[in-house]
Amino acid sequence: MTDYPGLLRALDALTRGVPHPVANLANASALLRQRLEGLNWAGFYLLEGEALVLGPFQGKPACIEIPLGRGVCGTAALRREAVLVPDVHAFPGHIACDEASRSELVIPLFRGGEVFGVLDLDSPYEGRFTEEDRAGLEAFVRVLEKNLFGAEASV
Ligand code: SME
Repeated sequence: MTDYPGLLRALDALTRGVPHPVANLANASALLRQRLEGLNWAGFYLLEGEALVLGPFQGKPACIEIPLGRGVCGTAALRREAVLVPDVHAFPGHIACDEASRSELVIPLFRGGEVFGVLDLDSPYEGRFTEEDRAGLEAFVRVLEKNLFGAEASV
């Protein structure tokens, strides 16, 4: 079980007042990989026009571009809501970047009310992610949105 209050405190301590979005996303992905058990990939895709483009991550090299509406990431970005997939083989259109992945959780990031990108977590275990993980990681993304561009940013 993940200590989500501790994870949120650690993220806030690492990113608050840091005006470097790439550095903040890189540290956020490293923190997730360090503190969540049973992951094979943790990282970000950032929206550029109509496609999500690979951002900072921890894991194997991954697909560089995902069109909006495609795969689990593109679906979460288009729907503007988290998508929890207990079994990726049962999700039509899942994009297999790492064939070890069995379950996936994707959470959109917002800036000024618009989707800015997504957080993507993959696990080699079917059913790895629970509703508690979804809630904890949505809170994680809210901290990140607040701190991503430094103290003066408005979200
Ligand atoms: N599985 C994702 C693609 C990204 S990788 O998992 C890192 C998807 O279906 O959108």
